[in-house]
Amino acid sequence: MPEHRPVLLREVIEALRPGEGGVFVDCTFGRGGHAGALLERVGPGGRVIGLDRDPEAVAAALRWAETDPRLIVCAAPFSAISREAAALGVSGKVDGVLFDLGVSSPQLDAPERGFSFLRDGPLDMRMDPGAGPSAAQWLDTADEAEIVRVLRSYGEEPQARRIAAAIVRARPIATTRGLAEVIERAVPRRARDHHPATLTFQAIRIFLNRELEELDNALPQCLDVLRPGGRLAVISFHSLEDRRVKRFIRDEARGDPYPRDLPVAASALHPRLHPVGRAIRATEDEVRENPRARSAVLRVAEKL
Ligand SMILES: C[S@@+](CC[C@H](N)C(=O)[O-])C[C@H]1O[C@@H](n2cnc3c(N)ncnc32)[C@H](O)[C@@H]1O
Repeated sequence: MPEHRPVLLREVIEALRPGEGGVFVDCTFGRGGHAGALLERVGPGGRVIGLDRDPEAVAAALRWAETDPRLIVCAAPFSAISREAAALGVSGKVDGVLFDLGVSSPQLDAPERGFSFLRDGPLDMRMDPGAGPSAAQWLDTADEAEIVRVLRSYGEEPQARRIAAAIVRARPIATTRGLAEVIERAVPRRARDHHPATLTFQAIRIFLNRELEELDNALPQCLDVLRPGGRLAVISFHSLEDRRVKRFIRDEARGDPYPRDLPVAASALHPRLHPVGRAIRATEDEVRENPRARSAVLRVAEKL
């Protein structure tokens, strides 16, 4: 089975400071690269709760948990983090919550999952194949205007109109290579370093998997899940995600919104988070060894 190399592993461990008896939630278990490093450090009394909505990731986690009962596996989207933590009796007691957003290497590398235009496979792109339409089904029925909106909002694709028109002319499109070829014909190869289909694939994936809604939904729930002094660590892979994480930490560090001209003591604003350091990026060495780390940004905050 293709494996996944965890990104910013040392930095995540430094941020979350796992120790004996610690309880951590890994919201994006994947193949457990980060979860494993946490388990190594929490001792016999510690626990790592691993969430994933991909059945293959959940199966890998369950196999692992057979030999390590300190790993607790939840087959759930991370927007259910509060509910899962409550069911496990750890609400308000968790030492650290980690999000390592986006797709894993096993997802990208498996042609049958349909995430990558580099490998020909059915045009699917669902992290949970049981949830919602596949990319092929959605493209078959969507209005051209809706396709334009998705490519613009989630891919920031400057050629959204031209690509959407080409998709509508060519559909039905059943395969990843089929979609990539429609885009290659519609827009000239860019002088940039990426393939012309890169932003379209990113946009459709983010839209279908409701990735930004999931993040917006889950971040505030972490405030209920963490204990005071517990830490939140989020690794984003593009600016649409990072912008949200940055804004969330900034707003929660500022506290309740009051009109600017009202004289209010800082303590009356009830700030809930304290940012820990600045955004952290992968070192050149890590990027050389793992190109996926190139766009990774880690932000860390502590619950007050
Ligand atoms: C980048 S990988 C994580 C890799 C992991 N940290 C490791 O080291 O193996 C992201 C994982 O998060 C899962 N995922 C993404 N969005 C999710 C969501 N909203 N809810 C639950 N799991 C999600 C994906 O299915 C994928 O397995």
